[in-house]
Amino acid sequence: MKKDLLNVEDLTSADLANIIALSEKIKLNRLDWHHLSLAGKSIGMIFSKSSTRTRVSFEVGISELGGNSLFLDSNDMQLGRGETIADTAKVLSRYIHGVVIRTYSHDDVVEFAKNAHFPVINALTDEFHPCQILTDLFTINEFSGKLDGVKVAYVGDCASNMANSIILAAKLAGLDLVLTSPEKYKPHAELMDSVNSDNSNVSWTTDVYAAVKDAEYIYTDVWVSMGDEKEKEERVELLSPYQVNMDIVSAASTGVRVMHCLPAHRGEEISEEVLNSNQSIVFDQAENRLHVQKAIMTMLLDENWDQILKA
Ligand code: CP
Ligand code: NVA
Repeated sequence: MKKDLLNVEDLTSADLANIIALSEKIKLNRLDWHHLSLAGKSIGMIFSKSSTRTRVSFEVGISELGGNSLFLDSNDMQLGRGETIADTAKVLSRYIHGVVIRTYSHDDVVEFAKNAHFPVINALTDEFHPCQILTDLFTINEFSGKLDGVKVAYVGDCASNMANSIILAAKLAGLDLVLTSPEKYKPHAELMDSVNSDNSNVSWTTDVYAAVKDAEYIYTDVWVSMGDEKEKEERVELLSPYQVNMDIVSAASTGVRVMHCLPAHRGEEISEEVLNSNQSIVFDQAENRLHVQKAIMTMLLDENWDQILKA
């Protein structure tokens, strides 16, 4: 694995297989885990956007691996008063051993990682959410026993950080992915070209019923991502035919499972009925953030991670 986890693109299929295998082991042995991979290490958590799952699962994960977490609201740091990203990364490199960052611009995270002497984990930017999508791959593998060829329909805002992430994840894991949205929120062309030049099975349509036909998983996310609040009215209007409701779920495979990275906005991208149905696996996804992030931190910060995996 590279020094940092900034994007799914940074990973090889061997990295993915190791993340899944180590996450399984960590999940199974949560109450009896003796590998304190972060003992004596401090991990900074720089957040400039809200978070429930990511913040709590990282803080708990760091503590369960024997480490110390420092939550750093970027507004309270000198970053908020103009100190450069590079200087901040260089200074923190003298104190701590890793950083988890959630912010707006992906380039800022790249710049931070370039200047940091420790592993940097992207905890969501406007463009990518690798920890979430790796957890989602782990969860699909947990339910289906495989990833290659699994049919997934991504319904909603197909130009968002989650859509970008699932497009790259489909290439990495061999998912058969169809995205569906109105024209205005279609996937970024360069991203689609880059995955499809490599024979990936990723396509996009405006026809939501065609997209979900035969799907084994339907995935959705909020219509208004953090930072897009000013566009709320237009987004809700254009995306409303793409609500994941029972009508759309009934058009998919029998036994289709419904995924959502959460937080959910009931009555917008997903109906209350679907979210509460037996087909919804959203809380399994949320739980798995903890196990998968512990695996990622072990692999980035413990040089003996492969022995832990083999043990
Ligand atoms: N899914 C996710 O990243 O949730 P939070 O915004 O609560 O961290
Ligand atoms: N697309 C959402 C994901 C939240 C976890 C956002 O960026 O707000």
